[in-house]
Amino acid sequence: MNVMLLGAPGAGKGTQAARIVEEFGLVHLSTGDILRKAVADGTPLGIEAKRHMDAGGLVPDEVVIGLVQERITQPDALEHGVLFDGFPRTIPQAEALGAALAESGLALDAVVSVDVDPEAIVTRITSRRQCRACGAIFNVVTDGDLETCTQCGGEVYQRDDDTEATVRKRLEAYQAQTSKLIPYYSEHGTLHTVDGNQAPADVYAAIADILRAIG
Ligand code: AP5
Repeated sequence: MNVMLLGAPGAGKGTQAARIVEEFGLVHLSTGDILRKAVADGTPLGIEAKRHMDAGGLVPDEVVIGLVQERITQPDALEHGVLFDGFPRTIPQAEALGAALAESGLALDAVVSVDVDPEAIVTRITSRRQCRACGAIFNVVTDGDLETCTQCGGEVYQRDDDTEATVRKRLEAYQAQTSKLIPYYSEHGTLHTVDGNQAPADVYAAIADILRAIG
């Protein structure tokens, strides 16, 4: 099963991805996580990506598509299926993904769009914290201002692009480009929508129902 989580910044894609991977055993492919690792490692890709990420814009399609094509042909992805988190984000990325999966005789089985009121997003993101070691996602409002991760003891930090000004730019990029994937996948018959304004456990229950029905 190959599944994509679609949603605005802060919709809860990463939060839900951790739960989905645990139950369904899919390989988690987050282009945001891959790019942040490249930035932290100071690779040429990371240096190029950081410019776009800090400005709240998208990294160029050809860069991101190349990363994903390489990852989805690895044996674990072919065997277990992939949970796409934050990819595709543009129509060219969606077309490239469809073509790459088709080359392996696969397809995107479900696109789950997590729908959240825009007013909630800025608060969610500016109060988000993340573990630098294991990637666990927290929130100052619900979890307190943690310094170490409750799951692995790693350092908890705030992402560079989680400032209010950058969040607003990221929301603009979502509206201008990524939201076009909703009609695109609706036409391709794979779109499901869940209400992301609910508590995380309720959002997960709705997603899991969809995946159990197709899996
Ligand atoms: P990426 O890392 O993908 O960021 P994003 O899409 O902006 O999404 P976020 O990670 O901000 O939010 P999320 O939906 O995962 O929410 P989360 O679960 O953390 O991309 C970052 C950048 O990389 C992009 O801006 C771009 O530059 C580049 N990039 C990445 N992929 C790219 C691509 N394909 N093409 C081009 N460029 C690319 O939750 C947020 C907070 O809310 C947390 O604190 C959480 O605890 C809380 N929360 C979660 N669910 C709920 C809930 N139900 N109720 C209340 N609070 C909740």
